[in-house]
Amino acid sequence: MEYSQKVMEHFAAPHNVGVLENANGIGEIGNAKCGDIMKMYIRVENDVIVDVKFKTYGCASAIATSSIATDMIKGQPLSEALKLTNKAVVEALDGLPAVKIHCSVLAEQAIKAAIADYYRRQGIDPTPIVGKIDDEHYTDEGCHL
Ligand code: FES
Repeated sequence: MEYSQKVMEHFAAPHNVGVLENANGIGEIGNAKCGDIMKMYIRVENDVIVDVKFKTYGCASAIATSSIATDMIKGQPLSEALKLTNKAVVEALDGLPAVKIHCSVLAEQAIKAAIADYYRRQGIDPTPIVGKIDDEHYTDEGCHL
């Protein structure tokens, strides 16, 4: 399997890894088949994501996509972070092998789940803002390690 230079860099030295102690939004998304789990922590102030960290028990692509996705949303307003698609993340990584594309969905969905959690903590129903979070999206497709 061919990985781009960027994927290898983010896999070897991922950015924003760990637990954010003062997070006010936490999202967790799992893939039932491969067992990969992504946990995303965000700190939101005045509708801006001022800090973000993630932890994953996942494959190289899941780690690389989370690393670059967290870079892309850090310092962004929630409205911009919600526009981040797995396609944009894959492009930022100069592509992923076709069988690994679904791994990039994990990061996108975990960010959405963390933002939904933030809204819930504010007493705001996240569904109209964040939409449906699809954590079972890949269970049929499975994972290709
Ligand atoms: Fe399961 Fe990548 S997320 S193999």
